[in-house]
Amino acid sequence: MSDQSAFDVDVWTLTRFVMETGRQAKGATGELTQLINSMLTAIKAISSAVRKAGLAHLQGIAGTVNVTGDDVKKLDVLSNDLVVNMLRASYSTCLLVSEENKDVIIIPAEKRGKYIVCFDPLDGSSNIDCLASIGTIFAIYKRVTDGEPTEEDALQPGTQIVCAGYALYGSATLVALSMGAGLNFFTLDPAVGEFILTERNVKIKKKGKIYSINEGYAKYFDSAVNEYVKWKKYPEDGSAPYGARYVGSMVADIHRTIAYGGIFMYPANEKSPKGKLRLLYECNPIAFIIEQAGGAATTGTERVLAVKPEALHQRVPFVAGSPDDVEEYLSFVKKHQK
Ligand code: AMP
Ligand code: F6P
Repeated sequence: MSDQSAFDVDVWTLTRFVMETGRQAKGATGELTQLINSMLTAIKAISSAVRKAGLAHLQGIAGTVNVTGDDVKKLDVLSNDLVVNMLRASYSTCLLVSEENKDVIIIPAEKRGKYIVCFDPLDGSSNIDCLASIGTIFAIYKRVTDGEPTEEDALQPGTQIVCAGYALYGSATLVALSMGAGLNFFTLDPAVGEFILTERNVKIKKKGKIYSINEGYAKYFDSAVNEYVKWKKYPEDGSAPYGARYVGSMVADIHRTIAYGGIFMYPANEKSPKGKLRLLYECNPIAFIIEQAGGAATTGTERVLAVKPEALHQRVPFVAGSPDDVEEYLSFVKKHQK
């Protein structure tokens, strides 16, 4: 007789999980479920491409520069094409905003649904060539106007997010997903090709022991940021100094922050007065996810999700993580406003 004890024969895959939450959502037609499942297919394909990048010679600069000035790698282009094509074919979207496209992508009328998706198909692309972790980030909104979709439809504050997620292509591929009722983690089982629910209702620690910031910009940070970082290294209240970690891939740094607690910061600096990270497809989805885990996300002056977007590729200063750590940072901001 074969030993089946090592196998879970009633696995909660991400697809099953989303179908179940969809079934429980009053009046749901299945459109959102269809959209999320299409996004997941794109993520699986990106994960496969990322894993094969070295072998397939997919690394290297494709020869163009994306709208926000980073070098565009072939994997970025491929990932963008995968997401755009899967979402277009899902019959559930009308408007897409991608980090890789200067303008909104308007879905042809005959394929339209009611959702708007803002995404960064491959975030942390400077890490591709050194094989460090990279990720995909997305936020889904409902459209709020009738008629031809326009750029204006995509400029909704993060408080309007219906669903947000990220995929981390790290030592394993993981998807963090929230539909506004908590945060769940799913890990890709490459043998089966499915994401398996590995952590339910994830909660971030109230306070952590790690700070994460590109300290190389210290010369350009304002005094509140520099004083806060100094305090993490030389605390004067008897507490132990924090550890420092910075991958330089937002998804990797955020995932660690959610898993271990602590604070992630990409504040404004003299050279980038609004910081670097983009509101629509980086800060908002991550802020939504962090809040769903019980954490906080601020620009330094307001809650990230409350910012009213003014432009597709707008940047905002971004500080997020354990609630007490974010609160402590804000106390330094306040002190310096006096
Ligand atoms: P739909 O008709 O599928 O577009 O869904 C209508 C609304 O029901 C969505 O905007 C969500 O608020 C909720 N909903 C639909 N599907 C799901 C799901 N899989 N999980 C959680 N909420 C859902
Ligand atoms: O926005 C792209 C990105 O790669 C993020 O993933 C990451 O957090 C950030 O840039 C790193 O920027 P820097 O190299 O300036 O620290």
